[in-house]
Amino acid sequence: MSYPEVGKKIIVTVPSTTANLGPGFDCLGAALDLHNEFIFTRIDGSGDRFDLIMESTDGNHLRGGPENLVFRAAQKVWESANINPFALEARVKLAVPPARGLGSSATAIVAGLIGANAIMNSPLPKEKLLELAIDIEGHPDNVVPSLLGGLCLTARSSSQRWRIVRCEWHDSIKAVVAIPAIRLSTSEARRVMPKNVPISDAVTNMGALTLLLNGLKTGNDELIREGMFDKLHEPYRWKLIKGGLEVKDAALKAGALGCAISGAGPSILALCKKDNGKEVSQAMVKAWEKLNVASRAPYLNVQTKGSQFREISNK
Ligand code: HSE
Repeated sequence: MSYPEVGKKIIVTVPSTTANLGPGFDCLGAALDLHNEFIFTRIDGSGDRFDLIMESTDGNHLRGGPENLVFRAAQKVWESANINPFALEARVKLAVPPARGLGSSATAIVAGLIGANAIMNSPLPKEKLLELAIDIEGHPDNVVPSLLGGLCLTARSSSQRWRIVRCEWHDSIKAVVAIPAIRLSTSEARRVMPKNVPISDAVTNMGALTLLLNGLKTGNDELIREGMFDKLHEPYRWKLIKGGLEVKDAALKAGALGCAISGAGPSILALCKKDNGKEVSQAMVKAWEKLNVASRAPYLNVQTKGSQFREISNK
């Protein structure tokens, strides 16, 4: 296998994601059209040299070392493809805010996998990258849509394999995501959940997920209204999100069809019809403002293309 020349560059664009959508805890997620961009360059040096330079949209630069998720993901590619590690630089343009429930860690994992694979002319197929991504993140609902795009349901089948179903998302349904200035780590949001849940809650969630998926497929308002709720994780998590329930209430009063914690939070996802996205967005921001929490609530489309990469020439 030939190694890339020093200077070879690959640009990877990875979408943010909103996971769970209420009843789809740890299995359902959708890609959104807000992206992080990663530029990988083969640099001089041995495999333990990995320079990660992060540039946020506010112009701040941060440096990250080999413990970073991008690097860990790259290492997994090399291990799986029997490649001796080589030195890489990754420059990241961050548009997806970290620790907000928008899959920012998943973008780092997916970018590391795609970048490290693409710079070696893609020895691993996409299926293998998906498997590695789920393994690194520990749950599939962010990494899968981040890689493939669209609304994805990922489940472990009876044969213990991960099966991915691309679900339909009706054009008339739009997403508003209210993103507060506060942060919440996924590990903290998972710690507050019980190890076991009553069977009645599990049954309720299975039904709700079926209603929601059918509502999203057909654009049926009522199915979304009645299916977008959860008994497995949200009841334990709202207390971690200052003003979360007030924001949800404001969105529903402004005409949202349904509202859920985006991923592990603290961002809140509202689904609505095309024509009332603006009212919903304003109502959510105002509700947080009343509690002195700054936020913004962009109207985001479901991104269907998934992660993309291209090589850029130095010449
Ligand atoms: N399904 C995950 C959770 C998404 O809710 O903890 C966060 O990454």
